[in-house]
Amino acid sequence: MQNSKILNKNKQVIDYKGTRRLSVAPMLDWTDRHYRHMARQITQNTWLYSEMINSGAIVYGDKNRFLMFNEGENPVALQLGGSDPAELAKAAKAVEEYGYDEVNLNCGCPSPRVQKGAFGACLMNEVDLVADCLNTMQDAVQIPVTVKHRIGVDRQTEYQTVADFVGTLRDKTACKTFIIHARNAWLDGLSPKENRDIPPLKYDYVYRLKQEFPKLEILINGGITTNEQIAEHLQHVDGVMVGREAYHNPMVMREWDQLFYGSSHAPIEYADLVQRLFSYSQAQIQSGRGTILRHIVRHSLGLMHGLKGARTWRRMLSDAPLLKDNDGTLILEAWREVEKANRFGLGE
Ligand SMILES: Cc1cc2nc3c(=O)[nH]c(=O)nc-3n(C[C@H](O)[C@H](O)[C@H](O)COP(=O)(O)O)c2cc1C
Repeated sequence: MQNSKILNKNKQVIDYKGTRRLSVAPMLDWTDRHYRHMARQITQNTWLYSEMINSGAIVYGDKNRFLMFNEGENPVALQLGGSDPAELAKAAKAVEEYGYDEVNLNCGCPSPRVQKGAFGACLMNEVDLVADCLNTMQDAVQIPVTVKHRIGVDRQTEYQTVADFVGTLRDKTACKTFIIHARNAWLDGLSPKENRDIPPLKYDYVYRLKQEFPKLEILINGGITTNEQIAEHLQHVDGVMVGREAYHNPMVMREWDQLFYGSSHAPIEYADLVQRLFSYSQAQIQSGRGTILRHIVRHSLGLMHGLKGARTWRRMLSDAPLLKDNDGTLILEAWREVEKANRFGLGE
């Protein structure tokens, strides 16, 4: 069994294996099972979140399409969007039956489409309804029910807004894990994309939550891109969730097991990862489930970030005529170009 123990800030030895010390954020259209498969090859310990799935889609739609995932993906959480307690509970039950380790409720998405359905970030204004949702979901499942939210909505810029939200849920529900995107959601006037960059980050609010609610598991999210930043945040909170950087530069996760989980395994080599991607692609394409090469490689365009040949890799794996053959050997060919560029110093 690998060593997974690490010293915490109080110099106590802690075993972090199986915890949400690090996680990859839920990202619509991005963190699907193909992305998560690749992420899992890079880091064995990091907790992975699915894209947000509407509870109705699970209850009334094709469960397999929304819930199926690959063997070896755990620990993996599914994020639900919705605000109907009974429907969320039914969806949560299905999530558990499919083998997820956690079900998360989205209270942070600012998209106008989501606001219309009265869920996502606007739920921060309806804490009693959130409590109902979490309680009904938790009654239906054994796995933990968690919540992801912002620090406030629109003009609510005081710390007390988020403190009251968390405090009420602590008192009225069994939810122990709070994932906080450390900026407001501005529901009026900003697009979802702008809402990830423009409202200012207030990490100190999240640190204060951990101080005020020490028994809760508090995870911080928003604008975190380097291992140094992660290490700093871990001095203050229980876990760090990384979104865009883990997608655009997946190899940022390469040393997370060693640095943050105390693993003694060596980080994965690029060549090994490429080989695994190739095998996975071939197996998926042949599985007859309608998967095509593009569904898989579109998530690996950033894999060579920082290496010579990264641009060639990206170009080849997004080239429609090359992808048309649906043959995973394209991955190996693109990798050979990266190898060549690095061996002979051919620049980008
Ligand atoms: C393309 C994209 C899709 C996203 N979809 C979701 C989602 O489905 N559910 C959610 O809670 N957050 C979603 N987010 C927000 C992220 O989970 C995260 O909170 C945000 O990107 C800030 O973290 P970062 O700065 O590390 O990227 C999405 C972000 C992006 C970039």
